[in-house]
Formats: sequence, structure tokens, C-alpha cells
Amino acid sequence: MSLNIKRPNGTEDILPSDVHKWHTVEKIARETAESFGFSEIRIPTFENTELFQRSVGETTDVVQKEMYTVIAKETKFTLRPEGTAGTIRAMLQNGLLNEALPQRVYYILSCFRHERPQAGRLREFHQFGLEMAGSAEPSADAEVISLAKNILDRLGLKNIELYINSIGCPKCRSEYHKALRSYFSERKENLCDTCIERLEKNPMRILDCKSPVCQEIAKNAPVILDYLCEDCSGHFEKLKKYLANLKIDFKVNPKIVRGLDYYTKTVFEFVTTEIGAQGTVCGGGRYDGLIEQLGGKSTSALGFAMGIERLLIVMDKQKCDFMTPKKCDIYFATMGENALEKAMNISHELRDFGYRAEFDLIGRGIKAQMKYANKIGAVFTVVIGDNELETGKVKIKDMEKGTEIEIALDDKFRINFESLYFNKMMDSIDDTEIGGNENG
Ligand code: HAM
Repeated sequence: MSLNIKRPNGTEDILPSDVHKWHTVEKIARETAESFGFSEIRIPTFENTELFQRSVGETTDVVQKEMYTVIAKETKFTLRPEGTAGTIRAMLQNGLLNEALPQRVYYILSCFRHERPQAGRLREFHQFGLEMAGSAEPSADAEVISLAKNILDRLGLKNIELYINSIGCPKCRSEYHKALRSYFSERKENLCDTCIERLEKNPMRILDCKSPVCQEIAKNAPVILDYLCEDCSGHFEKLKKYLANLKIDFKVNPKIVRGLDYYTKTVFEFVTTEIGAQGTVCGGGRYDGLIEQLGGKSTSALGFAMGIERLLIVMDKQKCDFMTPKKCDIYFATMGENALEKAMNISHELRDFGYRAEFDLIGRGIKAQMKYANKIGAVFTVVIGDNELETGKVKIKDMEKGTEIEIALDDKFRINFESLYFNKMMDSIDDTEIGGNENG
């Protein structure tokens, strides 16, 4: 019988053989964010649709074309297309903004966007993201950008460019909108229907339309940097100074406007050209108006999110190091009921001390059990049969070297096993060092 229900288009299964790669990214991202004073927040997978309409914006591709929305008992809910809106909602609802500022939170979550699937663009994808609320200072922008850079560096990624821009505040934007309207009105007949609608409501959105014709027209559109007010341009200059001080290379790219409506002032993207069109591995910026817009006190905020699938595509391509997948530390091959019970007891004790211990659970013969131990890459194996139970001694085999040592099957088993394991690890360190000297 063949499986006739497959996973939905644009979704992926993360298999046990690959999960160590995810653990690597998650561990490094968490540790880096925590070293910068961020703590984890976990938010619901779905929210009231209105939250995204009001924050991400009515005229964005995400809200207009990509949201998964259901109506349940007359209420409209949407699977989160990103993490910022839900995180800010949670901060407001739980009073976090009344505590010591700046509030700093990070998250690892799945997002849902009904996009056309392709390499690096999924309908369910995962983000590592973070938000900092309560600072209007450009030093906070530099801090958040340097945090993102730090994560990318610690993951071992190379050839990632940082692009920054400022898209100003509502004050400077009103002049800019006028200039954009005049530019696009003259070319209106070639714009897509959605962009014709955007022309009046929000002309900046035309700049990140995915239609190739609109993109071509947008190439020569006026750029926001020419319209920044004094406050916004001063903020941007200071950010550039701080990044230079931190020795973080960047390029000012006036074309970056980001696809979500809440941004003000600084926006940035980390981009690689190595994985084709979907090369933005991280995007973020400042959103000084969002908290007030959602009903909170006026509070400046900023953040970013990285696409974990995209990071992994680049890491694979660049052959970055991943944490070693955890293997079975010790496998007990058993013959008979008494041996099985003994293996159960010792395994439980070893597991309490953090070891991965396994024994046969499907009644295989001894040969098949050893074959299995080999297949799963067990570090040590022990055979327990009537003879071993009678003498109270077992042979523990180092599967890599093929050597065997006899140890007692008594209360001291765990301690003896630990010292054996420790010695093995020390030997392998010595071997590496000797190898290193030879090569040197
Ligand atoms: P975003 O640029 O929409 O920003 O998404 C952030 C990152 O998520 C992208 O740079 C990309 O790596 C990844 N990503 C986006 N869409 C997909 C997709 N369909 N498939 C795979 N990966 C994808 C945000 O979501 C903002 N909330 C970031 C932010 C946080 N700004 C301030 N705070």
C-alpha cells in the first residue's frame, strides 16, 4: 500500500538525521542572544487576524496575499506570518513594558505564508528572531545589528553582506510619498493591479512588489534617503559611526524598504548571493510607532528575524561545522529474561547520569542485536547471558577499536564504565594532538 497523503506543498519534514543541524543553529542563536541580555518568549501560533492587519499592514503582500486565516465561531484567526506582532502583543498584554527598559526578548518559531514555494521560500518556515523595546537611541540599532552579525559569525557563515537603510519617520515620509506618487502615476498603466491600488494608500509598498514589471519600474524611483528629516538623518549617521567603531562592514542600500509596514528609521538585511534569489538570511529594523498603534504607550522598538531554513542552506553549502549528533553510548545485547531485566536496571542508572543506553526491545537474537548496535554506532557494547549473570562479570567492547575489557556487573558498573569512557575520550584527544604535531 502506498502513502497517498503527502505533506502540503511548501512544508518540510525535519528528520532525526538532520535535527542536530537545527540544534546547532538554535543553540548558537540562543547563547548569543542571552549574552546580549535577551530572554526567551513563547507566543501562540495563531492570533486574531486584526493584529496582523494593523501591524504588518493592510497593503503588504503578507496581509493581502499570504495569510492563512480561518473563521472559527465567527472569530477570524490567522497563523502567524512573522513573530514581531505577536511578541509585541504579548509584551503589552503581560505588562512587560512597565518593567525595566529596554525589554529584550528572543524567539524561535514557525511562520506561515502562502507564497509560491521554491528553494529557500516555504509556506511553513522557521525564524530565530528578537525584539528590543524601550530605546530610541542609535546605539540600540548598532547593538541589535551587531548581535545578528555575531550569530552569523559564530555559525561560521562567510560572504554575507550587511545592507542598511533608513526609511524615515512619518514626518519625512509624507514628502517622500508625494515624490513616489508623482513618479509612479506617470507609469501607472504598467503597474500590477495591486500596485495601482497601493499608489494612493501606500506607494512605498510598490517598491517591494514581487512582480518583475513593477520591480523594473521601481528601479529608478526616488529614494527615501534624499527625503530624511534632520532627526532621522542624524540617527542614521550615528548608527553608521557605531558600526564603523564595531568594525562591522556594511553598505548603504537605499532600495531596502522591507515588506512589512511597521518599520521606521533603520532597516537592514544580511544577504548572501550564494543560494540564489532567496538570499536574505536576516531582516529587521526599527518600528517606533508600532507599540502605540497596538494600544500601548509610545515606545520605540526594534528587532530582526533570521530564516533558519535559509541559514541551513548556506551552512550546508559552505560546509560549516555542526554539533556531532548524539550516539548510543552503550548497548546491552541480552540473552534471556534475567539478562534483559539486568540490562533494564543498569540502563536506567546510566540514563540518570546522562548516558544514552539501549537494549533489545523486539526479541532479536544475539547476532542481530550486535548488528543493530553496529548500525546505530554504539560506542560500547556489553553482552549479558546466563554465564555473565553467574560470574557477575561482563566484557565491555569498544566498538571503534574492537578491544574488550572485563568489568564487574555490580553496583560499581556505572563508575567503571564512566572511567573507561573518560579514558577513551582522553586517548582520542591525545591522538588528535599527535596527528597535529605530525602535520605541523
Ligand atoms: P521578514 O524579512 O519578513 O521579517 O522575515 C525575516 C526572515 O525570515 C527573512 O530574512 C528570511 O530569512 C525568512 N523568511 C521570510 N519568508 C520566508 C519564507 N517564505 N520561507 C523561508 N524563509 C523566509 C520579519 O518577519 C520581521 N518580523 C523581522 C523583524 C523582527 N523586524 C523587526 N523585528
